[in-house]
Amino acid sequence: MKKILIVNGPNLNLLGTREPEIYGKLTLNEIETKLKSLAQDLKIEIECFQSNHEGEIVDKICGAQNIFNGIIINPAAYTHTSVAIRDAISAVKIPTIEVHISNIYSRDEFRHNSFIAPVSIGQISGLGLDGYLFALEYFSR
Ligand code: DQA
Repeated sequence: MKKILIVNGPNLNLLGTREPEIYGKLTLNEIETKLKSLAQDLKIEIECFQSNHEGEIVDKICGAQNIFNGIIINPAAYTHTSVAIRDAISAVKIPTIEVHISNIYSRDEFRHNSFIAPVSIGQISGLGLDGYLFALEYFSR
């Protein structure tokens, strides 16, 4: 059975109450519940991980080697700053899809650059919860 790691970065633990006009009203827990239900239908095993700490995210990605077949990551603010997360994805060579709830290209200019996109197989930005679901569906093929 395929195993997919789903990683959410800083402040995504506040989903539901954090700027709902941008990020919607679903909590991270609700998003993870929907992902688990889809994973069951697709017969995929998933593990969900959230951290506000860059090093913990790096550790999780490094530890995914030889365990997970794919990674879905919303690196949140670290998207625009983290060479360390980019290098971890590059190092483990696990196919990774970058997901953003909001459309990072229609927002502040500093959000237009992603350190993660060049080491990802693809990026989904602006489709809300569906971005995570589409990424999981992709890995089921
Ligand atoms: C985000 C977009 C980032 O620019 C921002 O820092 C986030 C969330 C998104 O999902 O839309 O925290 O990754």
